[in-house]
Amino acid sequence: MEEVRSYSPEFDEEIEQKLRPSRFDDYIGQDKVKENMQVFVEAALGRGETLDHVLLYGQPGLGKTTLSAIIASAMGANLRITTGPAIERPGDIAAILNDLNEGDFLFIDEIHRLPRTVEEMLYSAMEDFVFDIIIGKGPGARSIRLELPRFTLIGATTRIGLLTAPLRDRFGVVHHLEPYGVADLKKIVTRSANVLNVEIEPCGAEEIARRARGTPRIVNRLLKRVRDFAQVKFDGIITEEVAVSSLDKLEIDKLGLDSVDKKILRAIIEKFGGGPVGLDTLAASIDEEPGTLEDVAEPYLLQLGFIQRTPRGRTATNLAYSHFGLENFRESGGQMTL
Ligand code: ADE
Repeated sequence: MEEVRSYSPEFDEEIEQKLRPSRFDDYIGQDKVKENMQVFVEAALGRGETLDHVLLYGQPGLGKTTLSAIIASAMGANLRITTGPAIERPGDIAAILNDLNEGDFLFIDEIHRLPRTVEEMLYSAMEDFVFDIIIGKGPGARSIRLELPRFTLIGATTRIGLLTAPLRDRFGVVHHLEPYGVADLKKIVTRSANVLNVEIEPCGAEEIARRARGTPRIVNRLLKRVRDFAQVKFDGIITEEVAVSSLDKLEIDKLGLDSVDKKILRAIIEKFGGGPVGLDTLAASIDEEPGTLEDVAEPYLLQLGFIQRTPRGRTATNLAYSHFGLENFRESGGQMTL
């Protein structure tokens, strides 16, 4: 029998953990990245060396952390996880690096957000596995050189353009994770349903996959919510009908657009006459952070071809108008409701 337990955030984390594949063989999609990484891992293992530093970039939720854990595990190594904004001072990175053992992996998420002073300390650590600490100030200051164990840094970022060239150039392997196609997301959601012990029909899996905006994290989140509806409102099995009805209740439309996406499109069309409108102005008009808008919502709207980025700001395309049945709105200049 299942252990009875009260809700705790750790429980959610435990589910997340269970849904994450831990071996290359279980990792679906990103075939090119996976194949290349498997070669690099096998080669490094064959030579008895550590793996070169790896930079992974792509939209949030595409599995950068998951892939890093798989790489470290395939190398038989430990993985330490941190994020750019958490490392505030050179002393913080010194402590982290000093704590590593030979062959360990260090994963730095959002590496584009590392403070510049910290980033500069990383250069020699990555290149020569040494770290110079300055002790004291002024004329009496002196520098002590710390020898570090050979380690592998995996940097992850959603914004490769914000990385400085010196940092980017110190990664021996650079891979871009692409948004997933529906077929791969269908496989992922089917695998996840299996892990969660919930019955899912192929058409149900496909419906969830279609509305997951190319992202494994989203397909798994939708699965958990559809599972709730299946259990409470239906007989527990995720059929196409159950998936459609649940996702409609969650206000996620056929293309995976949610209420935030609709707010964005509605603002561009209604408040700014279809654009162009600057990111900050647009974000302020719908009470969202510009960063969230740019990193989370916008990539999918761009991918769908619903908005365009121009030098003067964002514009809504004809596709966006026609998705909402507003082909004639531009000419009419009237009001509308999405
Ligand atoms: N869960 C999240 N991402 C996954 C992936 N790429 N393959 C399999 N399961 C996943």
